[in-house]
Amino acid sequence: MTMNTIERPKRAPVPRATDTTLTRDYYVSQEIFEREIDKVFFKQWTFAGHVSQIPNVGDYFLHTFAGESLIIVRESAETVRAHFNVCRHRGSQLTKAGNGNVKLFVCPYHQWSYELNGGLRRAPMMPDGECIDYDKLALNPAAAEVWAGMIFVNLSPNPEQTLIEALGEPPAGLLKLEPENIKEICRDQLVMQGNWKTLLENYLECYHCAGSHPELGIAFDIQSSYDQTATWGGACFLGGEPVRKGLVTVSMTGDLVSKPLGRHSEDATLPLEVAEGLGLLPVLTRVLFHVDHAIIHVMNPLSVSEVQWTTIWYVRKDAVEGVDYETDRVVEVWRATNSEDKELCERNYKGVLSRTFVPGPLNPRAEGAVRPVLDHYLQMME
Ligand code: FES
Ligand SMILES: [Fe+2]
Repeated sequence: MTMNTIERPKRAPVPRATDTTLTRDYYVSQEIFEREIDKVFFKQWTFAGHVSQIPNVGDYFLHTFAGESLIIVRESAETVRAHFNVCRHRGSQLTKAGNGNVKLFVCPYHQWSYELNGGLRRAPMMPDGECIDYDKLALNPAAAEVWAGMIFVNLSPNPEQTLIEALGEPPAGLLKLEPENIKEICRDQLVMQGNWKTLLENYLECYHCAGSHPELGIAFDIQSSYDQTATWGGACFLGGEPVRKGLVTVSMTGDLVSKPLGRHSEDATLPLEVAEGLGLLPVLTRVLFHVDHAIIHVMNPLSVSEVQWTTIWYVRKDAVEGVDYETDRVVEVWRATNSEDKELCERNYKGVLSRTFVPGPLNPRAEGAVRPVLDHYLQMME
């Protein structure tokens, strides 16, 4: 892999009529789930948060992914780090608080203290060099990178690909929206009773959208999404959710729900159909930017039969609630869509649990992304 290139699907995105999803064991086997932890969950990049959550040195927040608790901390103006929330003495979690500001992380059990960079500062009654070597007892690191104001983590301290290698530089259209200058206004967390790949497959296709998502279908261009998703595959892709011709954003009317983001506030006439974003696979992170707001979905496998789906909504950081936006209006399309998908996925999973389940043929026209992404997953599992 050369620098600044996007990893492409291993095969051309030409869906085959013989494509299917996976056999039942991939959705129900505890053994396969354990293998996924090593082969997939500890290998891929996912979204953890936004720089606006930790503006000052020492600011931190906790992030949970695949059963692991990470401390995401601003070490300096330039550097954000991710540490496993596990004391190197006897393993206590260092902090339970969801966020805060510290000079040092002090373990509540025996008061070992750690620098913001994870280094062991002091272990009471155990001086450095006497019975222990402080250099060997830093907090276990995960990889953390900031891309266009968004913080991404990889549970591996030395990922095979950096995020920039995986994604390339942020595209000009996205930079014009100034993703670093947004603020979170709402966060929904759903737990779905199903395997994470059942939810992944749901998100990868819009074959179900016309029949199930009346709110999304108002401004989201379902037909275009068939072509767009057919190009997905590999570890990541760029692009947002397509907006219907002539509309300005995805909302219940297609009209703005907040003031324009970034440099679009200077536009005499707002551009239509702005749709920037990215996706990280196979455990899905989906970043969607429109001209006036952004949505980030993050999948977090909890067990072989449970997955958490978090959706976070953002608007311009100087937007004022009640003046520039109403939170209820910003969130209503995706809140409704998530609720519909939860029901679909849970019903889907109940069927997959049947001993009689065998995967049937995918629709080559409208479910084109499903098999290439599952093939990427299978390659990771080898
Ligand atoms: S477990 Fe943290 S200081 Fe003992
Ligand atoms: Fe859906």
